[in-house]
Amino acid sequence: MKGTVHYETRGEVVLMTIDNPPVNPLSSGVRQGLYEGIEKAQQDDSVRAIVVTGKGRAFIAGADISEFGQAGQEGASLHQVMKMMEASPKPLVAALNGTAFGGGLEVALCCDFRVASSKAQVGLPEVKLGLLPGAGGTQRLPRLIGAEKAMNFMLTGQGVPAAKAKDLGIVDELVEPDALIEASITLALKKADASETRKIRNENTLLEADRGNAEVFAEARRFAAQRMRGQFAPEMIIRCVEAAVNLQDFDAGMKVEAERFLECLHNPQRAAMIHVFFAEREVARVPFIKKDTPVHEVHSAGVVGCGTMGGGIAMCFANAGIPVTVLETDDEALQRGLGVIRGNYQSQVDRGRLAAGQMDKRMSLITGVTDYGRLADSDMVIEAVYENLDLKIKVFKQLDETVKAGALLMSNTSGLDVDAIAASTSRPGLVAGMHFFSPANVMRLLEVVRSKHSDNSTIATAMAIGRKLGKVSVLAGNCPGFIGNRMLAAYMQQASGMILEGATPYQVDGAITSFGLPMGPFQMSDLVGLDLGWRARKLAGVKPEDRPPAALVPDRLCDMGRYGQKSGRGFYIYPQGSRAGTPDPEVVSLVEEASSELGFSRREFDDSEVLERAFYPLINEGAKILEEGIAIRAVDIDIVYINGYGFPAYRGGPMFYADSIGLDKIYERLQQLSADKVISEKPAALLEQLAKEGKRFADFQA
Ligand code: NAI
Repeated sequence: MKGTVHYETRGEVVLMTIDNPPVNPLSSGVRQGLYEGIEKAQQDDSVRAIVVTGKGRAFIAGADISEFGQAGQEGASLHQVMKMMEASPKPLVAALNGTAFGGGLEVALCCDFRVASSKAQVGLPEVKLGLLPGAGGTQRLPRLIGAEKAMNFMLTGQGVPAAKAKDLGIVDELVEPDALIEASITLALKKADASETRKIRNENTLLEADRGNAEVFAEARRFAAQRMRGQFAPEMIIRCVEAAVNLQDFDAGMKVEAERFLECLHNPQRAAMIHVFFAEREVARVPFIKKDTPVHEVHSAGVVGCGTMGGGIAMCFANAGIPVTVLETDDEALQRGLGVIRGNYQSQVDRGRLAAGQMDKRMSLITGVTDYGRLADSDMVIEAVYENLDLKIKVFKQLDETVKAGALLMSNTSGLDVDAIAASTSRPGLVAGMHFFSPANVMRLLEVVRSKHSDNSTIATAMAIGRKLGKVSVLAGNCPGFIGNRMLAAYMQQASGMILEGATPYQVDGAITSFGLPMGPFQMSDLVGLDLGWRARKLAGVKPEDRPPAALVPDRLCDMGRYGQKSGRGFYIYPQGSRAGTPDPEVVSLVEEASSELGFSRREFDDSEVLERAFYPLINEGAKILEEGIAIRAVDIDIVYINGYGFPAYRGGPMFYADSIGLDKIYERLQQLSADKVISEKPAALLEQLAKEGKRFADFQA
């Protein structure tokens, strides 16, 4: 059995210490130890109270995920442990020394009282794994803090520091870490003296107050619909709390919780979300980066270009407390860029998300300059000028001349050749891509792009800095578009094709958003701006007759001054200042005209065909990315797509989604599309091989 619980007597109090490094999950040995310890303490007449704590940095970090899905667990069940705790006439105090997450907090809720070290953190993150707190959390927490706060706590799944937990009423006392055990023993004895216990399961006062309050549940449902659209578990959590409030019988509520938990467990979203949970940890592991790979110290950063991306990247550094110098071409552009940054912080302050003092502190970490010499001492500089290779090479040459030797020079290019950029400097080993996503201060993804020249320590540093900035860093190889934008190109190509063949842009977007992405391809085009491609074609002197068919509709829209959201019209019409567009029959007519000009005879599409056409070629591109070694593993692609492109986490990412459909089915469909010349390429060799061997992308090892 894994893990133990130490049992010692401190005068008339038993101190039980959970010991299952590193984070004390509720494994078989821990459950058995708790069960036996509490039983023993009951039988010992010299014991008057019990304190339970954890060894190391966690109280109990949660269930033991490695035991998930195993049939017939060893040792006492969690249910038996909890029953034993709640039956104890001797007061139990949870001394929360560190993390108490999931099942860990649920155990603490079975204790009579909770004392927390100021370093502790509590949370019920089950929703992030597609589950609900299934060990009584949905029944005990509303009894302790009321339905509204309990639902908010469980729906966000966010861990909160001890002080916040005290405010919420989850813990009774807050003490300094050194004083925790002493304070817990004192409280336990005081309660024993008063013969006072508190069994949360028996309390109904707060539930009664929530009875008949339909608004509290309506609000929770609005929150779930807005922030967790398409997810299954949030509604299950709400229903469990509704049961707690309406039934007011603990055991009946527990029965509902158990049923709902099973529904979550058997829902495919659960497997997808657990996949994502592990995938996020896996992408941080890069095979060639060893523990002893040196990492550069980055105490100060520079950013070249203070436009959309440069400004956001500068904010990332300032938010992480790292001083950053931002360079622009002239003072006017600089002031404009800094003004946007200030405006962004101000709106966070206005919405109560940032204290005014914090804003000043962050702004003071950002220095605007127009002279390259001022970047000389930066440890890392990130270039974010226009997407033009010649311009980028010019900027890198200048950086190479002015920035101190040994400093890292990074590019935020969305898809240009990082090898060429690196080769233009005298320090190619210290150059790599750091591809942030827009808005850079919000989006979690960072693609770190390795050029053929990049040193391992350059890559290790970029990955580590990404994490320091609160990003999930994923390593990509150098090719046009890297991982994400290369796959996106295949998807956009199909979206454009489908509207010429007979679908409307609104139907395509509708199918994609129903699938779970926050926006469809045409909503995204409107957001990015239809004029980018149109201008680029004009600059390159592309004649209308040489234009790719997919560009016909967006170019016509631009000719009419419809550039997308920024001009209030694109594929959609945006009423004054609105970001939500409404469909426009004029666009449908324009699309139909374009179809007939290009010789298509329009036909019906249904939503399932839209999904296949949009995602199968994207998955095919993912397969090529894997076989070429641009991505290390399928999970890297999943994490890119979830965090950079809004692919729903509850579908596990495109490669996991493909595995769940079956690669044989996808291969066959792509072969058909290729034979029909709907896609110009054949299915990827890797896809063919895996499909024929009955394997999944998850089985792929480079
Ligand atoms: P932007 O046009 O908003 O900003 C570019 C800024 O660079 C402008 O403020 C310009 O004055 C400045 N600049 C131009 N030449 C310069 C020079 N020689 N020295 C100093 N500053 C100079 O462009 P955006 O959108 O910020 O894009 C920048 C880079 O980020 C591009 O490589 C783009 O492909 C990439 N990127 C853009 C994303 C987006 O969604 N906008 C997403 C991810 C990457």
